[in-house]
Amino acid sequence: MTALDDQLVNPTTFTDEASLHALWADLRRDDPVHWTEPEGIRPFWSISKHADIMEIERQNELFINDPRTTLATIQQEEDIKKFTGGSHILIRSLVQMDNPDHMVFRKLTQGWFMPPNLKKLQTGLAELAKEFVDRMEAQGGECDFVSDVAVWYPLRVIMMILGVPREDEPTMLRLTQELFGSTDADLSREDENTSIDMNTVTEFFDYFTKLTEARRANPQDDVASIIANAEINGEPIGHLEAMSYYIIVATAGHDTTSSSTAGGLLALLENPDQLAQLRANPDLLPSAIDEMIRWSTPVKHFMRTATADYELRGKTIKEGDSLFLFYPSGNRDEEVFDDPFQFRIDRTPNKHLAFGYGAHVCLGQHLAKMEIKALYDELLPRLDSIELAGEPSRVAANFVSGLKRLPIRYTLSRKAA
Ligand code: HEM
Repeated sequence: MTALDDQLVNPTTFTDEASLHALWADLRRDDPVHWTEPEGIRPFWSISKHADIMEIERQNELFINDPRTTLATIQQEEDIKKFTGGSHILIRSLVQMDNPDHMVFRKLTQGWFMPPNLKKLQTGLAELAKEFVDRMEAQGGECDFVSDVAVWYPLRVIMMILGVPREDEPTMLRLTQELFGSTDADLSREDENTSIDMNTVTEFFDYFTKLTEARRANPQDDVASIIANAEINGEPIGHLEAMSYYIIVATAGHDTTSSSTAGGLLALLENPDQLAQLRANPDLLPSAIDEMIRWSTPVKHFMRTATADYELRGKTIKEGDSLFLFYPSGNRDEEVFDDPFQFRIDRTPNKHLAFGYGAHVCLGQHLAKMEIKALYDELLPRLDSIELAGEPSRVAANFVSGLKRLPIRYTLSRKAA
């Protein structure tokens, strides 16, 4: 056990991007496949190189997602067992599954999230983006871009897709933040007396059980209806799997996109030349969005477990060992990106790993990019000026995290009709 190992996974490290990246840059140079033994957490290999993350993710029979999908403390693992009566998981969604189940469950909604189907959302997204930028204008020139815009806009989109009514969005937002931000004192439940979010998961299950009943009785053109009425190998979808499917779509679908939307704006504010270039040349927006996503890398890690011994950079990964794939490090790998610590809106190609890679690659990646594009398509032409109005701060979490606050001051004009 070393201080470094503790620091690598300590949620507080994630509030300071510069220190975080300095730690991982050292690992990439000195020990890219690093045996890590943090206090209170079962040991694992920390994987910091872009090529190694791809090599592992590509081989999804050799490196599986179950039983250790994301990092948990030993205390959390024990609490989950107590709560579930012996199981190691609270939810069983796509990210906890391996084949053959993973492929079958992913197919249920995959077509829905592909570009041809998403085209139908384009007009709705543009209207929603306008609504949010109008709201910024109505706020009179100052706002917290995170809590006023970046968290609500993708939330609205994913809830529309899922079929959750608007009045329930604050509940969904609270539950998601509790699930992902439970290590951040500002976002976790005040009455938390255990190490895991059992109350949050229970509340999610209660909510989605009612939604399932409603969609079974009266199917609509939404993803909730696909999940509620799904058949797996001729049998109705299991309750745990249905609940977990809603949760992964509801949660993965907005916190991540919020983080990239806000992280992208901060990067533009910190690099005024890039903002000016983008405003002068809006055709660069698609590559700028990829760069915003690389730059912010909202999903910090996923884990895999080896099903056989494997050699990686001269180290032997033993069958049963876990690997911690640190995406932000892969996305600053000097061997893959020129000037990885420069934010460049015209970076092409941009082979970032922010959406993962291989069989589990993000199902919502096209949707996420469409959403961010719609917002910036509306915002950029209306901006007369924009600057930071205070110190930005970050969520303390080692799974999904990003900006917690981004105070900005701006002048906006109304778009010509
Ligand atoms: C910028 C925004 C987003 C980022 C950075 C992101 C990132 C990721 C990452 C890293 C993974 C794991 C990939 C792997 O294991 O290789 C993932 C999986 C997933 N994402 Fe996203 N995501 C984003 C937006 C979305 C959206 C909008 C949705 C909406 C449905 C979504 C749904 C999912 C689902 C369902 C999975 C599980 C896929 C599987 O295991 O087969 N994500 N995402």
